Amino acid sequence: MTKQYYIETWGCQMNEHDSEKLAGLLQTMGYQPTHKVEDADVYLLNTCTIREKAEEKVFSRLGVLRREKEKRKGDMIIGVAGCVAQQNGAQIFNRAPFVDLVVGTQALNSLPQMIEGIQSQQGRQCDVDKDPDNHLFPVHVPVRNSSVRGRITIMEGCNNFCTYCIVPFTRGKERSRPVEHILEEAQMLADKGFVEIELLGQNVNSYYSTVNFATLLRRLNAIEGLQVVRYVSPHPKDFDQDVIDTLRDCQKIATNIHLPAQSGNSRILKRMGREYTRELYLEKVAMIQNTLKGISYSLTSDFIVGFPGEKEHEFWDTVTLLEQVGYDRIFSFTYSPRPGTGAIKHGDPIPLEEKQRRLRILQEHQLNIQSQRMQNRIGSQTTILVETIKPGDSYPLAGRTRDNLLVHVASEVGSPERFYGQMVAVEIVDAGVHTLRGRLAEGASDLADAHSVVSA
Ligand code: 5AD
Ligand code: SF4
Repeated sequence: MTKQYYIETWGCQMNEHDSEKLAGLLQTMGYQPTHKVEDADVYLLNTCTIREKAEEKVFSRLGVLRREKEKRKGDMIIGVAGCVAQQNGAQIFNRAPFVDLVVGTQALNSLPQMIEGIQSQQGRQCDVDKDPDNHLFPVHVPVRNSSVRGRITIMEGCNNFCTYCIVPFTRGKERSRPVEHILEEAQMLADKGFVEIELLGQNVNSYYSTVNFATLLRRLNAIEGLQVVRYVSPHPKDFDQDVIDTLRDCQKIATNIHLPAQSGNSRILKRMGREYTRELYLEKVAMIQNTLKGISYSLTSDFIVGFPGEKEHEFWDTVTLLEQVGYDRIFSFTYSPRPGTGAIKHGDPIPLEEKQRRLRILQEHQLNIQSQRMQNRIGSQTTILVETIKPGDSYPLAGRTRDNLLVHVASEVGSPERFYGQMVAVEIVDAGVHTLRGRLAEGASDLADAHSVVSA
């Protein structure tokens, strides 16, 4: 009988893509995916450790898997992958002896060997070595979860060492993939019919090999068949004029600009080890606003509240930054001390209730700003790549704009399936706080028909 695997993924897009790589390796070994835990011969938990309680959550999930393994009298391989694996290594076996393998973020390639080792009775396996060539993973191996959007790792690791962040410890030093390798993967995806690619890196715009990030974007923009090029996660320091000019000039490059500020107060930014002040950050925002005049773009950011030593008025500097910039969306978190990071020496002096109060205030302010900004889009025309189809629904199509806003589209004309994976023109008719509603713009339906005839 065919052996089956199940991969459970927590965390960021990089982790999701690592799971696609692990899935590819398992498939080359003859394993097939299953959605039922009880059918899995190999169960991998791909973990994240960006915020606290990561280990607790992993061990509690592993407890559930242990019961499944016991039911089957041990006939199941349980593996821990990802950032908790990288951080804790073989110590995971001490707390969870029923775990068979631990594979770190830079050792994905060892998975087949580790499974073979377990099967040939060599006992538990652990590899958390730092393979500097991990980012050169073979382009044909990953099994993508989507047939429209393909993820591509362009760099890994981080050299910034922001004092709150564990990523440099779990993902290692920055390594950029050679440009030819990336273009080969992008071309392969375009040839397979993917229309969107998402470039991944812990500091994606720090990319540098023989060309810089802006040149890489320009080269990808030229690949026929691709329609949208997205990228996560950028650092504000690397959003230079060259990159912003590229967004202005290249139609396919996504125009959602994620500019993670983390705080609006310069003293806290310094303590966080960010390489900008509030003023420099605002200069960058102004540069974007000036260069992208007349182009639809969105600005988003990440924020941490309650960083050690953050005074009330310093927190309010973050609130006023929201007002001053006018973000389309923010991702905000209470500070969580992470082992081994620079800020750990400050402890965690702000009580959780106070951190949560600040978070609530920040989010309430953002909701007001955001809902106004979304309302302003009503009446505008835009283009989306249709990624979701729900036949029978009153909004059967959904997709994202070039600047990454989700639009649900009402379609009265025929079957929605023919729009799947197509770029369609829509008119925005309504707006919620997080999503937009639209209808097909005139001619969009005929265009999709023409497309389906061509591709039939
Ligand atoms: N505590 C809280 N939030 C954190 N982030 C990263 N590390 C921490 C931490 N220790 C947030 C940052 C980052 C996002 C991915 O997660 O805002 O941009
Ligand atoms: Fe979590 Fe960071 Fe690891 Fe991604 S890289 S899984 S966000 S700790």
